[in-house]
Amino acid sequence: MEGLGLIDGKFVGLDEHVVPIEDRGHLFGDGVYEAVVVWGGKPFLVVEHIERMFNSASLIRMELPYTLEELVKFHLQLIEESSFEEALIYSQFTRGVAPRKHPFPLGVKPRLSMTIRPWVRLDSNLKTNGAKAVLLPDERWLKCNIKSLNLLGNVLAKQTATENGCFEAILHRDGYITEGSSSNVFAVKDNVIYTAPTSNKILSGITRGVILKLAQENNLLAKEEVFTTDFLLAADEVFLTGTTTEIMPIVSVNDHTIGDGKVGAISKILHEVYMNKIAKECNL
Ligand SMILES: Cc1ncc(COP(=O)(O)O)c(C=O)c1O
Repeated sequence: MEGLGLIDGKFVGLDEHVVPIEDRGHLFGDGVYEAVVVWGGKPFLVVEHIERMFNSASLIRMELPYTLEELVKFHLQLIEESSFEEALIYSQFTRGVAPRKHPFPLGVKPRLSMTIRPWVRLDSNLKTNGAKAVLLPDERWLKCNIKSLNLLGNVLAKQTATENGCFEAILHRDGYITEGSSSNVFAVKDNVIYTAPTSNKILSGITRGVILKLAQENNLLAKEEVFTTDFLLAADEVFLTGTTTEIMPIVSVNDHTIGDGKVGAISKILHEVYMNKIAKECNL
């Protein structure tokens, strides 16, 4: 099976025509989303992701018509029905279906659509040897803390990175690093780990939070502080975090070599402890 869909709790094929033409997600990008990785048939950190979905929804003043427990159940149903062991579950809520007018429609229920697809992990060579990134101005809106369906700014940045043979676009506002187009950014200098503090300028990544906690548990000093593009380029190590990115070492930014051009010791430790956490929580 290639994958499976679930619309408001009802299984559908991935190629079925099920989105009404006037769905506000389709018309305006009016909605929020999440992505959860399944390891060994278990959804990793599913509760944390669903809690963030509730938070994103409340920030766009959308009341979700399901409980956290019901949403966890939908994840488990998709895993069971597909029998996938390693998969990615994508979920999105849109504000619902209504004639195209900007103000919120009255009496319209948000619509949930979900998909599960087999999970193809990133090329292990990238993890072993490190990846390349480009620095770009962050031209997105000022509500990046919402995991909104409006991703055009992120899409355009990632496309520029791709066209430059790079894994990610690292974004900055007025010379201060915010995040990647679909990841959070960390820099290591003199054994101290830095990442931008949570604000409206970044998505507070679930993986970012786990890494900060794991750093503390492993006696590594981590600071949530702003840092500049110059600081990033002069860092000993740079790495990205994300649900699908995991921990990705960056060894070159704008063709400038980071540190000695090899994956750094702290990136390696954090990658190892992160994979151990997944193995423990998902009984791998
Ligand atoms: C813009 C952006 N920042 C950060 C992240 C990382 O978040 P998480 O670790 O929750 O996947 C993502 C993930 O999709 C993202 O799109």
